Amino acid sequence: MRTQVGIIGAGPAGLLLSHLLHLRGIDSVVLETRTREQIESTIRAGVLEQGTMDLLTEAGVGARMKAEGALHHGFELAFEGKRRRIDLTGLTGHSITVYAQHEVIKDLVAARVAADGALRFGVSETSLHGIDTDKPSIRYRHEGEACELQCDFVIGCDGSQGVSRASIPQALRRDFERVYPFGWFGILCEGPPSSDELIYARHDRGFALISTRSANVQRMYFQCDPKDSVDNWSDDRIWAELHARVDSHDGHHVADGKIFQKNIVGMRSFVSATMQYGRLFLAGDAAHIVPPTGAKGMNLAVADVRLLTKALNAFYVENRMDLLDGYSKTALKRIWRAEHFSYWMTSMMHRIEGASPFEQQLQVAELEYVTTSRSAATVMAENYVGVAVPQD
Ligand code: PHB
Repeated sequence: MRTQVGIIGAGPAGLLLSHLLHLRGIDSVVLETRTREQIESTIRAGVLEQGTMDLLTEAGVGARMKAEGALHHGFELAFEGKRRRIDLTGLTGHSITVYAQHEVIKDLVAARVAADGALRFGVSETSLHGIDTDKPSIRYRHEGEACELQCDFVIGCDGSQGVSRASIPQALRRDFERVYPFGWFGILCEGPPSSDELIYARHDRGFALISTRSANVQRMYFQCDPKDSVDNWSDDRIWAELHARVDSHDGHHVADGKIFQKNIVGMRSFVSATMQYGRLFLAGDAAHIVPPTGAKGMNLAVADVRLLTKALNAFYVENRMDLLDGYSKTALKRIWRAEHFSYWMTSMMHRIEGASPFEQQLQVAELEYVTTSRSAATVMAENYVGVAVPQD
């Protein structure tokens, strides 16, 4: 089989790229190891920057996001028993939407299916060939058959454990990594929102985050040992911990609900440079990981896709290679900004085991500063809404 662009991975990056290329008359095939049901139910984060919302809207998949997502104009930072607001819209003119990643995936899959897009689920034994030539191919197994997809370009959107990044020779690639000694315990519960806006809380017991999914489903997290097990956490113990960390002096407290999902995720910062080799280009988690504190993961994947769409379009319409050649360099500017922001927010908000009282006071001093200085708050806000790096 032949296509123009072979895409490995049906996450937000792969699906969105495939759809944007289709809208420009460029053919692609998306290969995914998991089933459609699996990708549509994997629980991930859910904050969309303005630029992400705009690109989803441009792709024609923004209707449900607009109707069901919640537009937020600010968020709160809780520390030392008080809560202070970061006025995103007032400081930057932009806002964010809270809309779960798997809902974005459902919208994108529906759009690809409606457009008769080629999407292969449940593939295995994927391998890349000839990526250093102008006739690359992807071999894989699908429904018991050995298949080969010949293409002009291979785009690796297959996450941090996928085959794509590993296909770039180690000698040409450098990995930058930081593993954090804590994780996030996440819950989904039925119940009313605790607050109109997200609350990021720093507490001596550890970080907590109050987020939302809808009027009656809430998403909350608290810092935990990444090696802990959800079985050690009864519902009562979870609520006690969230109350201890988030309830504030002004009488505000977290609204309990019926917990129906619990999970623990580790936290890691990671960048692969380069993000390209010959006719292979990486996008999203295949090339970079951020801890979830800055809510940047999916937004970075979408920003990569914006660049790749433009670069592939320039190749097919104007026979230009320059945007593809410069892809990694351009993408890495936004990525490193987001890496720093996510690391900074993570370091300011989490309990660091072994931190001295002096270091703990520095965290509080920094929170005081970003919540009282307009300049400092603007730095936080423009990074959060995603305009700290101009639209590429
Ligand atoms: C979420 O709602 O899942 C969420 C929100 C903000 C974050 C991370 C996750 O920073």
